[in-house]
Amino acid sequence: MAQEFFESLIACIRKDAETHPGQSIDPDVLREFMTDRTPPVPARKPAPRPVQAAVPAAPRSIPRPIPAPVSAPSPGRELPQAARIAPAPAALERIGSLDELRPIVLACSRCPLAATRHNVVFGEGDPHAKLMFIGEGPGYDEDMQGRPFVGRAGQLLNKMIAAMQFAREEVYIANVVKCRPPGNRVPSPDEAAACIGYLKRQIKLVQPEVIVLLGATAVNFLLGKRDGITKLRGKWLGYEGIPVMPTFHPAFLLRQESAKREAWADLQQVMKVFGKVYRRQG
Ligand code: URA
Repeated sequence: MAQEFFESLIACIRKDAETHPGQSIDPDVLREFMTDRTPPVPARKPAPRPVQAAVPAAPRSIPRPIPAPVSAPSPGRELPQAARIAPAPAALERIGSLDELRPIVLACSRCPLAATRHNVVFGEGDPHAKLMFIGEGPGYDEDMQGRPFVGRAGQLLNKMIAAMQFAREEVYIANVVKCRPPGNRVPSPDEAAACIGYLKRQIKLVQPEVIVLLGATAVNFLLGKRDGITKLRGKWLGYEGIPVMPTFHPAFLLRQESAKREAWADLQQVMKVFGKVYRRQG
């Protein structure tokens, strides 16, 4: 992280604080994000290529919402063949609140990730949040606790949110897949397809004003973009009329600290939408 860049940024913010008292961002909170020294999250292996023969065709229609097992399957439990890789049902559209959606997702066994999870990670935050963050999928800590972004990447995300002048409780945080892919690998296209309906319903119910997509997996599976995050980040995209800002995943930022500079530029664009940032040109 270029110290020079950071210091000039802080100087800018201080000037803004003088010009716009009460509306500028707190340099100390930004420093927390930019200088965070949380140990990096290890790089992950890509998802294994789907084996065609092992993936049954999705049923044409799913008449009922979702079968509701009483408790989550224990790790290692085999799923019935018919339950594997089924898309989220159209009936989700009738779900009118996050509270109604949660038990459905917690009972899901639509893909093989259900067999190895400890907890489903539904998502959390203000159900009417203006700002929504979407990651890839739960890691070890999230799987153990059933909450999104509570591990090392989550600690950095908290700092990003604070630097943006939001409280974590004010935003909504969700993932593309709600169950941990073993070894923290990238979810396969089939796993994402089985789960994405839940995320889309969450977005519809929360109705955020802006979505921040964390990392390429979220952009690829929500928006169908194929490019890498280095190409996608920092440029406004849209999802159903909602402005979407793709940026680096905090786990990547833990490994590649120099990329925080670009991530901060992306987050500032989001802050501007909420009138939270004042940035001098030149
Ligand atoms: N990484 C993610 O993409 N999501 C989480 O919830 C945690 C880590």
